[in-house]
Amino acid sequence: MILGIGIDMIEVARVQKAIERNPRFCDKIFTPVEIAYSEGKVSRFKHLAARFAAKEAFIKAVGHGVPWASVGIENLPSGQPLLKVEDPSAYGFSRAHVSLSHISDYAVAVIVLEK
Ligand SMILES: CC(C)(COP(=O)(O)OP(=O)(O)OC[C@H]1O[C@@H](n2cnc3c(N)ncnc32)[C@H](O)[C@@H]1OP(=O)(O)O)[C@@H](O)C(=O)NCCC(=O)NCCS
Repeated sequence: MILGIGIDMIEVARVQKAIERNPRFCDKIFTPVEIAYSEGKVSRFKHLAARFAAKEAFIKAVGHGVPWASVGIENLPSGQPLLKVEDPSAYGFSRAHVSLSHISDYAVAVIVLEK
């Protein structure tokens, strides 16, 4: 059954400004996998913005705040994103589905949690 869904949309420039203002922002918010993935891309801020949106979508799906870097995205070789959560049993879901999209100015993420 569906345990929760979450959606979030964010301005890429908001994430870019936060990173440029505070160099520690990235390490505090994103996992090493997310940072490495984005650094390999032409326009890293939109990939990071989509991952920030995924964290906020996850918070909506579970109904409460979580440590930012305990939730992250990893990509399969096909490019499909997977949600990785530290200690998933703490949230009561058995399966997570995530989808990301971004254009130059905006990024969105949708998450569905099943139990
Ligand atoms: C994967 C695809 C849907 C992405 O769509 P897009 O409009 O280019 O880009 P979007 O911004 O909407 O989506 C990008 C996100 O899609 C996700 N994505 C990439 N490949 C994916 C896949 N195989 N399955 C699910 N999600 C995928 C990623 O999360 C990516 O963001 P990220 O790189 O930051 O993780 C698109 O590249 C595609 O369909 N390619 C295949 C085209 C095809 O099959 N053509 C037929 C042969 S001609």
